[in-house]
Amino acid sequence: MRGDSLLSVERLRCWRLCRRSRLRSLRSRLLAASLTCTVLVVYVCSQDLIAGPINFPLLWGTTTPPKQVTVLIWYEPFGKRRRLGDCHMLFNVTGCHITTNRSLYQEADAIMFHHRDISDFSDLPFRRRQSSQKWIWMNFESPSHSPWLASLGGIFNWTMSYRVDSDIFMPYGFLFSKKRAKIVLPRKRKLVAWVISNWNEDHERVQYYNELRNYVEIDVYGRYGLDLKEDNIVKTVSEYKFYLAFENSLHTDYITEKLWRNAFKSNAIPIVMGPSRYNYEMFIPRSSFIHVDDFSSPRKLAMYLKHLDKNIHLYRRYFTWKKRYDVHVTSFWDEHYCTACQSVKAAGNQHRTASDLAGWFES
Ligand SMILES: *[C@@H]1O[C@H](CO)[C@@H](O)[C@H](O)[C@H]1NC(C)=O
Ligand SMILES: *[C@@H]1O[C@H](CO)[C@@H](O)[C@H](O)[C@H]1NC(C)=O
Ligand SMILES: *[C@@H]1O[C@H](CO)[C@@H](O)[C@H](O)[C@H]1NC(C)=O
Repeated sequence: MRGDSLLSVERLRCWRLCRRSRLRSLRSRLLAASLTCTVLVVYVCSQDLIAGPINFPLLWGTTTPPKQVTVLIWYEPFGKRRRLGDCHMLFNVTGCHITTNRSLYQEADAIMFHHRDISDFSDLPFRRRQSSQKWIWMNFESPSHSPWLASLGGIFNWTMSYRVDSDIFMPYGFLFSKKRAKIVLPRKRKLVAWVISNWNEDHERVQYYNELRNYVEIDVYGRYGLDLKEDNIVKTVSEYKFYLAFENSLHTDYITEKLWRNAFKSNAIPIVMGPSRYNYEMFIPRSSFIHVDDFSSPRKLAMYLKHLDKNIHLYRRYFTWKKRYDVHVTSFWDEHYCTACQSVKAAGNQHRTASDLAGWFES
């Protein structure tokens, strides 16, 4: 199933999609998947290589403006009411009407369902469902924290998640290329930081920490630790050389803001625990992070961190990528809604159903 996505590719502004031979295989699978993909991939990859847009066929005699797309948010994520942003102003996406008004059900081109808020089938608007309407299943939690999945097969048309092979790929963050620039790293004296709110002794990350702290000092922030500086994670972590970007569970492509914001935005080298190193390298340069799997034990990792602490040249090498790339951290939830709208506009009226939702998402 990996690589089977139609609409995600646009968002896959992966930092070196074209350049890595390993990704070439992903790309060729995408190319095989559909022609739509071919155009999008080539377009995304060559954006900074060729000037000017791709030629599309001219349409003569169409004077009516493009129809506005209505996207209905069925549940406000986690039950919290938010002001909806304007897609045009925020992301330069035109022709979108994003609404939470359920009275607009009939005219909605797409409906978004946030997985965590689905608790009762009877709350889903099956009655009066039109087959042209796209139901979008949206989820950013990992399979370990996504109950009910097995009962939700065959209901939704599209998936939207952090997985590359979602119909609409929406990562927690990504790198994008920028004009070459000098890197300026802030001075740092503190060594390792970790921000954690969900402390669970059974989690692999807590067990690893319990071992690691025997060999190197780690400052723990969050509900069970120190208070954040000015209540701000990036301000706090910016004083540290390393950050423990440990995910709460280990799953394909599940790489969250712990990496993109907490570590990268703070100019701290991420020490990651999550999917495999191979999986991380699909999204970020191999020399931008340390993976716990790189070391046979927490003690060996601690020795390496102390070595980097003493060797500024070696330490700085982890930031070489910053010369050419910048970090984008996805903003919940306007960016998600507007991306969905953009995908609806791009998709036309092709039909699709996510039949084995659990089998796919849990793989
Ligand atoms: C906004 O989108 C339009 C049409 O896609 C494009 O021509 C224009 O350059 C974009 N503007 C910005 C500021 O990105
Ligand atoms: C929802 O939409 C209906 C139909 O257009 C409209 O009458 C109603 O005022 C709207 N409700 C809100 C809260 O905007
Ligand atoms: C959406 O899925 C439903 C249920 O499988 C199906 O009947 C409908 O044709 C699909 N619509 C689209 C636009 O994919």
